[in-house]
Amino acid sequence: MEFKNFDKIVYGGDYNPDQWIKTPEIWDEDMRLMKLAHLNNASIGIFAWSVIEPEEGVYNFDWLDKIMDKCYENGIDVILATPSGARPAWLAKKYPEVLRVEENGIRNEFGVRHNHCLTSPLYREKVREINRILAERYGKHPALKMWHISNEYGGCCHCELCQNAFREWLKNYFDNDIEKLNDEWWTGFWAHHINDWSEITSPKYRGENHVSGLKLAWQRFVSDSHISFFENEIAPLREITPDIPVTTNFMTLYEEIDYQKFSKYVDIVTWDNYPLWGREDTENETIKAAFVHDHYRSLKNGQPIFMMESTPSNANWHPINKLPPVERTELTSLQAVAYGSDSVQYFQFRKGRGGHEKYHGAVVDHVGNENTRVFKGCAHIGEVLEKLGGVVGKRIDSKVAIIYDWENNWGIKYYCGYNNEHRDYNAECFKWYRPFYYRGINCDIIPSTADYSKYDLVIAPYLYMLKPGVKEKITSYIENGGYFVTTYLFGSVNENDKVFFGGLPTGELRKAFGVWAEETDSIPPHIKEIATYANKEYEVNHICDIIHTEGAEVLGTYKTDFYAGEPSVTVNSYGKGKAYYAAFRNDGDFADDFCASIIDELSLKPCASFKFDKGLAVRKRGDYTFVLNFSDESKKVYLDKSYRDVIGGEEVSGEIKIDKDGYIVLA
Ligand code: GLA
Ligand code: ZN
Repeated sequence: MEFKNFDKIVYGGDYNPDQWIKTPEIWDEDMRLMKLAHLNNASIGIFAWSVIEPEEGVYNFDWLDKIMDKCYENGIDVILATPSGARPAWLAKKYPEVLRVEENGIRNEFGVRHNHCLTSPLYREKVREINRILAERYGKHPALKMWHISNEYGGCCHCELCQNAFREWLKNYFDNDIEKLNDEWWTGFWAHHINDWSEITSPKYRGENHVSGLKLAWQRFVSDSHISFFENEIAPLREITPDIPVTTNFMTLYEEIDYQKFSKYVDIVTWDNYPLWGREDTENETIKAAFVHDHYRSLKNGQPIFMMESTPSNANWHPINKLPPVERTELTSLQAVAYGSDSVQYFQFRKGRGGHEKYHGAVVDHVGNENTRVFKGCAHIGEVLEKLGGVVGKRIDSKVAIIYDWENNWGIKYYCGYNNEHRDYNAECFKWYRPFYYRGINCDIIPSTADYSKYDLVIAPYLYMLKPGVKEKITSYIENGGYFVTTYLFGSVNENDKVFFGGLPTGELRKAFGVWAEETDSIPPHIKEIATYANKEYEVNHICDIIHTEGAEVLGTYKTDFYAGEPSVTVNSYGKGKAYYAAFRNDGDFADDFCASIIDELSLKPCASFKFDKGLAVRKRGDYTFVLNFSDESKKVYLDKSYRDVIGGEEVSGEIKIDKDGYIVLA
């Protein structure tokens, strides 16, 4: 179902009036300041359970009634949270089963947040109950536009309830056939045969932690538990408020939950974006943010996402919380919109006077008024966003996709072997994304199980795990005219980390790629191995496959070691398409050089018809072309005709300088 609850760029963020309950005059000041900052939205009640239900069965909605009304009267839409992210002390004291048990088997005490068992029927019931009461009370309130389910689900619990739920999950996963589990987990190794489901427990450092199949299963179970916890939360909301969309905020590329699966259960994919500005590799932070926007935008067929949180200034939890200039915050906001977000939201509207996050950036600082650098910056961003309303709902079309697969990431994390020191899957994917990012060529980021048919080019860096159906998907994509690129350790194992027997790439893929991957070498830093591609030399970093052609054309060879002369890069024509095997990892220019030639061959076009300096990010959404400068120096665009500067309002043409942290939006 598609929801049409938002017709402008949502601008707002986490708002905690519950922390100011004793000084309600602040609430009126909040309304004045929100309007002054051009905010149109507030996410409320995210951690408000102990205020809403101060004692079991005793409710206090007085404050929330007032806030909902005030927001409505002041033109502020509300995204109302369910409060399960942090439970009241009375609840934890009375029902200890709701508290999480750590890997060491000890139950946590009350404290922090996200400290609940995911299975506890009692906690699930309590959550359903409070959510029902909220839906009944505010479901028809005109300010309510979306449900914010809990907050940043995460972590896991090892209690007995969870152990039993895990066993049930396994029975279902292995069709109630314990021998299937034994085969998939290869339990003949180290006398690990399992006779009965009751012999299985969650992986832990003082127990089983060397069976990768078990670790994968546990990871899937934990991820599914979050999803079923979410389904439990939304049940009363769907019943009482079927027209109000639901979401929960994802955390960048948080590994523990398969967001690719979770995205199917939310109405809008939303995520929290906190680039680490104080670092030396600022550039990587911006590319990562673009990648994540592109990824979440790709998960629901291009449907716009929300940047549910970001900081209007600095964070408080980074190792060193460098203040960004307001221009950087503005650029980050514009980046979100350019790459598919229909919202710019902050954590947080107002700094609290105490608590763990009192020094986290906010629109309103402890001084309490609008006369601050950050407030003025936010107000300016609000004005800018009002001019960009034309992008709302607009999708972005891409001819290129990078495969980024959550479970593959787990698979890579859990195997032991080859180069155990260097296997950063995310960095590999960012590396193959960059050539398109810097050329202004739209790019989707998709799971391995997605539909590839609309793309001219699909790149699968380090796709170690092939889940059911993916093999066939790749071969038929290539057969039907697709260009597919893969790299080292391609398709080594199935979804349970069980190695494919009979030579790699497995099955029909070996024919499709026209190579046999015989061995994989791991390269210590002091050994220099060289590979070539199109007559240029590249260093092999950390890992490479030793492959032999079985019909593929050789585009490059190794220069060193006992595999000198063997192919390092190949291409094979298969059906109407082409299959590329780039067998080595290189942390320099290889991916860029390689992609340049495919971009050329496939005539993949940038989204802008004008030329621009390298280092700018260019992205078209709807009628607007965004040019963003995250680099350290000013850059230029060379316009091919006259455009309208959407923010400035005037006609522009010719050469235009874009300062560091600057941007221009052209129509
Ligand atoms: C997360 C949480 C917020 C807050 C911010 C601080 O994203 O969702 O509640 O803690 O971080 O950056
Ligand atoms: Zn539990």
